[in-house]
Amino acid sequence: MRLLTTGSFAILLALTLAACNIRGFFISQADDPVWHGPSEAQAAGDQNQSLGAKLFNKNCASCHQTTGKGISGSIPPLAGSVLATSDDVTKPIRIVLHGFRGAIVRSGVKYNGVMQPWHSVFSDEEIAAILNHVRTSWGNSASEIKPEDVARVREATKSRTTQYTEAELEQPL
Ligand code: HEC
Repeated sequence: MRLLTTGSFAILLALTLAACNIRGFFISQADDPVWHGPSEAQAAGDQNQSLGAKLFNKNCASCHQTTGKGISGSIPPLAGSVLATSDDVTKPIRIVLHGFRGAIVRSGVKYNGVMQPWHSVFSDEEIAAILNHVRTSWGNSASEIKPEDVARVREATKSRTTQYTEAELEQPL
């Protein structure tokens, strides 16, 4: 009788273990799928924001605002900006690389401020991403800027040490 009980228990135990194994209980950890962390670009783009949006909101929005509307009389808007959306992509690239200064009038409002250069802050990829965010947000709809475009302008203007003025930007690069 005792023998029988032990035997039944052994069978029950074997069945239980087998059932667990079917469910993958004893499969070694090496078989688990490898977990990949988010890429750098994804990590930078919290909450599904693109890299350009993220960098813009962090570095440009304090002045130009997340709405791209700027601050009337002191910071010009980027929404509807002719320079930012120019078909001559060297114009917005030159502005971001070397900064912008001097008296300008936008929608009848006068501005006369100074924007710092960003050439030593951002890579070609980052400047392209920021400008593509500007060129496709708030109703703006302009062509895509490639990192190679930024690299070309960076090389062509590398000896420059002052901000661009509106008149200078009228000159083709
Ligand atoms: C500290 C404030 C400040 C920050 C930060 C700033 N800007 Fe500016 N930006 C200005 C000012 C001021 C002007 C206008 C200068 C003038 O009056 O001539 C300007 C002008 C511009 C223009 C030209 C707009 C037009 O239609 O004339 C562009 C494009 C631009 N900024 C893009 C950017 C981008 C992109 C960033 C972030 C990388 C940025 N700015 C960060 C202050 C700022």
